[in-house]
Amino acid sequence: MNNEVLDCIQTRRSVRDFKETQISEEELNRILNAAVYAPSGSNNQTWLFTAVQNKKTLEALNERVRLGFLEWQPGEKEYPAKLGARKRALNEEFNFYYHAPTLIIASNVPDYPNAMADCSTALQNVFLSAQSLGIGSCWVNQLTWLNASAGVREFLADLGIPKEHVICGAAALGYGNGEPPKAPARKEGTVHIVR
Ligand SMILES: Cc1cc2nc3c(=O)[nH]c(=O)nc-3n(C[C@H](O)[C@H](O)[C@H](O)COP(=O)(O)O)c2cc1C
Repeated sequence: MNNEVLDCIQTRRSVRDFKETQISEEELNRILNAAVYAPSGSNNQTWLFTAVQNKKTLEALNERVRLGFLEWQPGEKEYPAKLGARKRALNEEFNFYYHAPTLIIASNVPDYPNAMADCSTALQNVFLSAQSLGIGSCWVNQLTWLNASAGVREFLADLGIPKEHVICGAAALGYGNGEPPKAPARKEGTVHIVR
């Protein structure tokens, strides 16, 4: 039986190669509307979604991210992907949002136990609504990892993201170049039904 929502879930893939063309205002508004219609703990809706569409601003943010990684002193047990991002940041060509024309930054209030969960449900709405509109997307995590970087936070504050906010995640958005590959087979043993 055809089901558009389920098809959308199964065909969405992370896109990391974008055209320069900006998404339309209507598309952006529909995607942001999908974000704020996500569930949130106790219906708190304390999140903030900041959409950045200015190319120069995004490039300048990318430079802050690169510098943030270069200044960051890894501890003994760091997440490998975070170390990988730091390595890539050594390259001046590194672009954490893959030159996507739009970046939506999801942040939330401090000391709120559902901050990440609420923003994650909303970001999934962003990815799925983008997919349904023919727009590619990718979760990018560098701003979350650099939550405490003074240079990054000053820049984000200038964009209107309160300094005390926790950066929960970000979505790179734009029209993808080419067809993304099909989803790889799912891992076995990750679903358990008790009857
Ligand atoms: C919490 C989280 C963080 C992620 N961070 C990044 C990231 O920083 N850069 C990136 O290119 N992809 C990132 N991704 C995308 C994953 O790599 C991707 O979802 C995964 O490889 C599965 O591929 P698919 O989305 O195409 O199904 C992240 C995804 C999640 C859920």
